[in-house]
Amino acid sequence: MLRGLLAAGESVDLVVSRASRLTLLDETGIAFRDAHWREDLAGWLARGADGKPHTFDVDVSGVRHWAAGDLAAGPSSGSYPAKGMLIVPASTACVAGVALGLSKDLLQRAASVTLKERRKLVVAVRETPLNGQTLRHMVALDEAGAVVLPASPAFYAGATHIQDLVDFVAGRVLDAAGVPHQLYRRWEGELGGGSRG
Ligand SMILES: Cc1cc2nc3c(=O)[nH]c(=O)nc-3n(C[C@H](O)[C@H](O)[C@H](O)COP(=O)(O)O)c2cc1C
Repeated sequence: MLRGLLAAGESVDLVVSRASRLTLLDETGIAFRDAHWREDLAGWLARGADGKPHTFDVDVSGVRHWAAGDLAAGPSSGSYPAKGMLIVPASTACVAGVALGLSKDLLQRAASVTLKERRKLVVAVRETPLNGQTLRHMVALDEAGAVVLPASPAFYAGATHIQDLVDFVAGRVLDAAGVPHQLYRRWEGELGGGSRG
């Protein structure tokens, strides 16, 4: 998704929560450190979804990084010039915090700001199955104007690699945000596309 945003010429304000770093490290072997964020991000974006080296060549100069606990950061204020916010992936804890308007860290505060400024907020929930609490929080987010987008890939786009499934979800997030991309093959109204390869 970050690659897609940068390829579309968008500038990005990046917030990486503490728990998401653990997940990133556990699932892909990629470390993300505040003190070395630029070099870590460049290495991260150069890899595929499975953490293996890829051929992506990404210029990260359009990215600004903010510490997740920094409540004085730019995106904490409605006057900061942001078009919208994408939470990808969003934990159920994050969904709860944003739905309840807790604003306990930069991510939650920026999400509250995004909603109060009537800007686009996309929340890519990553969990299954979902309990009633999370379902109620998701309804609250929808009613507040957010797009709730479960990280659920489709199979009609002819996926052959994990990267294709990840790109599909990333592409749907960019669709919801109105950002043009070519991350997946769109449904063209004809059955059999998924098996044609
Ligand atoms: C390796 C790992 C994977 C996790 N995966 C998920 C997940 O897919 N969905 C979820 O809701 N929580 C998941 N969690 C739990 C969240 O990280 C935890 O609730 C955390 O407090 C979320 O904080 P954050 O929303 O500020 O990032 C995971 C935790 C770890 C350590």
